[in-house]
Amino acid sequence: MLSDPEAGQASLQYGLTLGSRELRTQLAKILAGMGIKSDLDNLGIFHNFSEVMILLGEVFINPGDVVYYQSPQDLNILQVLAEYYGAELKQLSSGILPPDAGRVKLVYISNSKQLSPEAKEILLDMASKLNFLIVERSLNGDSDGSELKLSDKEGRVLFLGAFSEIPVLSSLGEFIPLVYLEASSQLMEKIEIAKGALTLCTNSLLQGMLIKALSPYVDGKEVNFGKDETQISPEELQDLLSYRGERLMPSEIREILKYASIEGLLYLAGGVPDPQLFPLDKILNIVNNLTPEEWMEALNYSSHKGLPELRAAMADYISEREGINLTEDNVLITNGSQQALDLIGRFAERRGSKIITESPTYLGMLTAAVPHIGEEDILHMDLRTPQGLNNLSQYRTGAMQSGVPAPVIYLTPTFGNPAGYLWTEQERRNLIDVVKSFRNQGYDVLIIEDDPYGELNYTGLNPGEELIIAPTFLSMYPEGIIYLATNSKVFSPGSRIGYIVGDNQYMDEFAQLMEELEVEVSALPQLISAEFIKSGMLKEHIQVLRREYAKKARAIDEALRKYMPEGVEWTPPQGGLFVWVEIPQEWGLDLKALLHDVAVKEGVNIDGENVKFAYVPGGAFSIDHSTDNAVRLCFATATVEEIYKAIHAFAELIRQHRR
Ligand SMILES: Cc1ncc(COP(=O)(O)O)c(C=O)c1O
Repeated sequence: MLSDPEAGQASLQYGLTLGSRELRTQLAKILAGMGIKSDLDNLGIFHNFSEVMILLGEVFINPGDVVYYQSPQDLNILQVLAEYYGAELKQLSSGILPPDAGRVKLVYISNSKQLSPEAKEILLDMASKLNFLIVERSLNGDSDGSELKLSDKEGRVLFLGAFSEIPVLSSLGEFIPLVYLEASSQLMEKIEIAKGALTLCTNSLLQGMLIKALSPYVDGKEVNFGKDETQISPEELQDLLSYRGERLMPSEIREILKYASIEGLLYLAGGVPDPQLFPLDKILNIVNNLTPEEWMEALNYSSHKGLPELRAAMADYISEREGINLTEDNVLITNGSQQALDLIGRFAERRGSKIITESPTYLGMLTAAVPHIGEEDILHMDLRTPQGLNNLSQYRTGAMQSGVPAPVIYLTPTFGNPAGYLWTEQERRNLIDVVKSFRNQGYDVLIIEDDPYGELNYTGLNPGEELIIAPTFLSMYPEGIIYLATNSKVFSPGSRIGYIVGDNQYMDEFAQLMEELEVEVSALPQLISAEFIKSGMLKEHIQVLRREYAKKARAIDEALRKYMPEGVEWTPPQGGLFVWVEIPQEWGLDLKALLHDVAVKEGVNIDGENVKFAYVPGGAFSIDHSTDNAVRLCFATATVEEIYKAIHAFAELIRQHRR
């Protein structure tokens, strides 16, 4: 798979939240063989059972809700619902719910064959009357294990299976831990949004391996597509949602990611790395040279904290780069940084902390944190300015007086997302000084430094050019910072590996959260990443990326200068993948409507050519509409020529629609 450039690139790239279309199509064919009709909207591919359980907990479970299970063996998989989400777990006797069943939300059936036909009928009937959902666990991928799903008239049954149990894949054993869920589209839509906030998407490498393994089996099979149209009423769905489920924010970017597949559309939207720059040969080489012992490890489960070799490799890498002293105990591995952001939200919720962040801020942090703490607990402050620091001090005084716990400060200070700004060393020092003074008085403010782009620095590349760097917050104040890193922008987003790095006092709290949630990251991508880092390939590869992305950064700045009307403002990108473009408010542009209705649908005519393009409207990057008059442009994916054309068209769109 890695030796085929197209499949190889797809297996290293970000994927759709619910999983690859190709794999879902294959899955639909397999399910069709069991009599289950499903369209792509009804299917999702997930990393493992614990991810599915976290998502079900997230969307549906409030503390005190009751979850019934069929067999004590099911307790294992359902534990997270009790331990983290506060569900009460009760065993079902002979498939019948007692009259004092409580506020039932889920019934987990691991072997529907054991239920009598009457019991099945009663269960489905009660699900409708009491408004609960049934999760039916597929039995070894055979058609007899889908009996509840097949009689499901109201879309209340979610069908859950493991790929490793599909007969043709069973020889792979635990090697591919991915699992799937089939559900009516309205339920799947909620789960998709929750998944976007939790891990963004599923590991592309493992999905690629499955696609390859399944194709001889399913190719040529006819599939009876058709949406699972059975739907619960909107009122019943609302009643099923947990408080987190009610707060889920549909992500603008997830919607816009779907535009990426439109033929001919110039894509300056999602922060998707250039697939041409993936180190395909090097990864192939690593995979081919894994020893039998390493394959054994790759076939096995990892641990909640991640594989020790990857944690140690990352600790050494960052220690050397930052001149600090980290060990593997200072590093935890997550399913992409997105999962780290989800954990930050949970951490803040547990402490009763608000999150203070800049405006604009990374929207993935907002979508991750809001379900846990609510929009009202996110505050925007520009902490680069004396005014912002003053606001922080005032906040502290008020909070201390009223007994509100210390906040968490979330920043992307180095070529961040979306604005691409670089905080100066002095600005960093000023904030650290304030935070230190708070902490000396026992006010435990924690700074989260999210840094996917710090190494993509395009300054100092040409002879005579000055290299502009600012030290990381981590290097300046290791005991007060949680630092987030990711494979996504410097190696492979499809590998879904993120890193939480920090002082042991905080790492213990994060490790505990991960244990409660049973966070598991697949072993194979961890082993590949460890080798990529240890061998020095990561360091080398970053130099290639710097040179290549610098060309595009220069191109987008030149194109903006050439085409944008006077009054439009941006900061020339010195690193990262984005430019933040601000358009005067008084021009009255609705940048969201213009994106969907004009830029993507109608297109803009330039030089006799109709040009369609996509950007991300700025409103997505704050919760207070303070950024509605801006857009985020990503220059990573498009070619230099496409960048010029898209910016030309964008400038024209602004001219045509401004007041
Ligand atoms: C600032 C920031 N944090 C986190 C992420 C999530 O990255 P990952 O792919 O590792 O989940 C991104 C991705 O665009 C990002 O820009």
